[in-house]
This record gives sequence, C-alpha cells and structure tokens, in this order.
Amino acid sequence: MGKDVIIACDFSSAEKVYSFLDLFTEEKPFVKIGMELFYAEGPAIVREIKKRGHRIFLDLKLHDIPNTVKKAMSVLRDLDVDITNVHAGGTVRMMEAALEGLTRPDGTRPLLIAVTMLTSTDQEAMEEDLLIRGTDISDVVMHYAENAKKAGLDGIVCSPLEAGKVHEKLGTDFLTVTPGVRFPGGEVGDQKRVMSPEEAGKIGSDYIVMGRPITAAPDPVAAYRRAMREFVG
Ligand code: C5P
Repeated sequence: MGKDVIIACDFSSAEKVYSFLDLFTEEKPFVKIGMELFYAEGPAIVREIKKRGHRIFLDLKLHDIPNTVKKAMSVLRDLDVDITNVHAGGTVRMMEAALEGLTRPDGTRPLLIAVTMLTSTDQEAMEEDLLIRGTDISDVVMHYAENAKKAGLDGIVCSPLEAGKVHEKLGTDFLTVTPGVRFPGGEVGDQKRVMSPEEAGKIGSDYIVMGRPITAAPDPVAAYRRAMREFVG
C-alpha cells in the first residue's frame, strides 16, 4: 500500500457519516471508523461503507486476554476491513493471538497495527498511574513498537514526530499511521503536538489520519484534496 490520507469519521450516527461521504462524488477516501460510530451503529456501518467502495481502518483498539482477542478478531476479519488495531500493552502473546484470529483460512488478512502508549498518557501518568518507572515514555513507545514487530504486526499508530525514528529502528516496511496532523495555521483543537501533511510526508509517515481539519472544514472535499496534494504530492 502506498501513502494515503485517512479521514477520521468521528460522527455519532450513520446518517451523519453518510451525508459527509456523499459530498465526495469523484473520489473514495480511505476512512477511519472508531468506537463511537461502531458502538452506535454496529457492524452494518462497516459493511455499508465498504459497499460504497471506501477502504476502512477499523479503530477499535482491542485489549483483552489473548484467547478473547483472537476470537474477536476472527469476527472482525469477515468484515473485510483494510486495517484494524490492538493495544501493544496487551503483550506480545496477545498481539500474536490477534494476528492468528485475523488471518482467514486462505491466508489473507487485513493489516494489523498496534497502539503503543496513548498520547493522552504523559510521563507523570505513566509513572504514577501505571507504575512504569525509571524509563522515559519515548523508550516505552519504542519498546512497544518493537514488541509489535516481534509479534508479526504490520506497524503502529504513532505521532508523525516519531515516524522517522520508528522507520530508522524497525525498517521502512513497518507502517507508521499518524494522527495529530493539521494544516499550517489551522485550528489545533485538543491535539498537543502537531505536524502538517507536508512535513509528515517528508518525515516518512505512511498514512496520516485527519479528522476535524477535513470533517469540520467549510469545504471538506477541498480540504481532503489539499491534504492529499500536500502529503502524497
Ligand atoms: O480530528 P483529529 O484530526 O484530531 O482526529 C484524529 C483522530 O485520530 C481521532 O479519531 C483520534 O481519536 C485519533 N487518534 C489521535 N491520537 C492518537 C490515537 C488516535 O488523535 N494517539
């Protein structure tokens, strides 16, 4: 797969996401479906968006005992999404089980990536709440990324600021899917550390995930085209 822009469809209902997707008459953007929409509308929303011809990143971040994750993944594999994910914090064994569950009898499967440390967790929360001490959070992120690679996963979700280092250590084939992207001078919202599509492209992100800069733009199609032009070139 090549470089692409994934639109985070963080809408609360099927109706809202369909009226957003209906704006795109010439292209079929790659979309991300997260927990809010999936829990509100169920697997039918995935089937319908797939039927409309979009590629889908199903962002459900599974994290449970290996056997449960394996079984859940074998349900998700039949939804025919393109990318899905787990928490690397569930251990190497859980990630291996996820991969087993996701693999179809014919050997094909969606791409599987891992969330390392959530960007909402900072050094202090990691030390005080999770009791992970004596190490820098960036080293924990890299260790989790190494675990994902060891388990056979295809890549990780990370900040575009980390994408270069991840490729340097784990190879350019190991995918980096990066949220936290904003147009220069645009609204940052609740994202703390952001990068522009062009910078993310230069640093080597494989996929950028953009939500509000596209979904809340006055002209979402123009914003999507701008992101594609600046990121993919
Ligand atoms: O609207 P915005 O561009 O901030 O959307 C980014 C998307 O990426 C959201 O769906 C958000 O949940 C997701 N995400 C993120 N940061 C992470 C992991 C996921 O912003 N570390």
